[in-house]
Amino acid sequence: MIEELKYHKSRIIEVVNESPKVKSIILKTTLAKPAPGQFVMVWVPGIEEIPISPSYYSDGIVRLTIARVGDTTNRIHHMKSGDVLMLRGPHGRGFNLNLKGRYLLVAGGYGAAPLIYALRELVSKGRRVAYAIGARTREELLFIEEARNMNVKLHIATEDGSEGYRGFVTELVEEVIEEYDNVLACGPELMLFKIMNICLSRGIKCQLSIERFIKCGLGICGSCALEPSGLRVCRDGPVFYAEELKGTDFGRYYTLPSGIRVRIGDVKNYSV
Ligand SMILES: Cc1cc2nc3c(=O)[nH]c(=O)nc-3n(C[C@H](O)[C@H](O)[C@H](O)COP(=O)(O)OP(=O)(O)OC[C@H]3O[C@@H](n4cnc5c(N)ncnc54)[C@H](O)[C@@H]3O)c2cc1C
Ligand code: FES
Repeated sequence: MIEELKYHKSRIIEVVNESPKVKSIILKTTLAKPAPGQFVMVWVPGIEEIPISPSYYSDGIVRLTIARVGDTTNRIHHMKSGDVLMLRGPHGRGFNLNLKGRYLLVAGGYGAAPLIYALRELVSKGRRVAYAIGARTREELLFIEEARNMNVKLHIATEDGSEGYRGFVTELVEEVIEEYDNVLACGPELMLFKIMNICLSRGIKCQLSIERFIKCGLGICGSCALEPSGLRVCRDGPVFYAEELKGTDFGRYYTLPSGIRVRIGDVKNYSV
């Protein structure tokens, strides 16, 4: 069987509350090691399959950090040690962690998941790296302690000012960006669009992990295609260089599962 089509029966060994809406599910698995930024399809038997980018992997232990936003993620939030999830993958293209220079990792919301994994790998390679994270309040900031334990520089922004800079993480990034050569970012699409433009205008290399509606995850169905380039988020991404996204509908339009295109920000039910 083609490895990508194979389901790995994976057992939950621990559940960690990360914030009021986010839990980490730690599983023992036979899944191959994902590169940071790749994703796995998580099948909740009896419900559906959803894409999730692991926040940690080592020796057959994978961590999935999941925000509760709808039926499937709600069901996962109610799971306990001993319960089973079926994983397939890893899929797609992850972050390139072999570029020269200093790295700034910019996270918004559950976008922190692939970035804390990338941070760990970059630190183990001896790279100079910093972690910037934004949230509405301090309770929603993810992986601050984990990043502190890796002794990296932190740039924290909260909208209510309860920790760090008061305002958006994109404003903070604009203040510190000149200290870095590479930016990796994951978070809400309008945040990523802003980061992309900040980097393009300064000639700073930028990789963005983006979302579109994933059905097959294999590059076959076209559900996740960016227009007009036809780049498939599940296969050519989910991590793209800023230059690849220029001129596509990224940051402007999202294609719903029905095929209808909507302006980013217009459809409240969609996390983009
Ligand atoms: C490459 C990739 C990596 C992701 N990594 C993470 C992660 O690490 N942690 C995390 O919490 N979330 C992650 N997500 C988002 C996650 O897949 C959705 O939150 C989840 O599918 C919601 O399912 P639901 O049934 O709970 O909610 P629903 O009510 O079905 O949907 C809520 C919102 O989730 C999004 N969504 C739903 N189904 C899909 C789908 N099949 N593909 C893409 N988006 C969908 C839509 O924006 C939708 O409005 C990732 C998405 C992608 C594309
Ligand atoms: S989800 Fe089917 S082509 Fe990407």
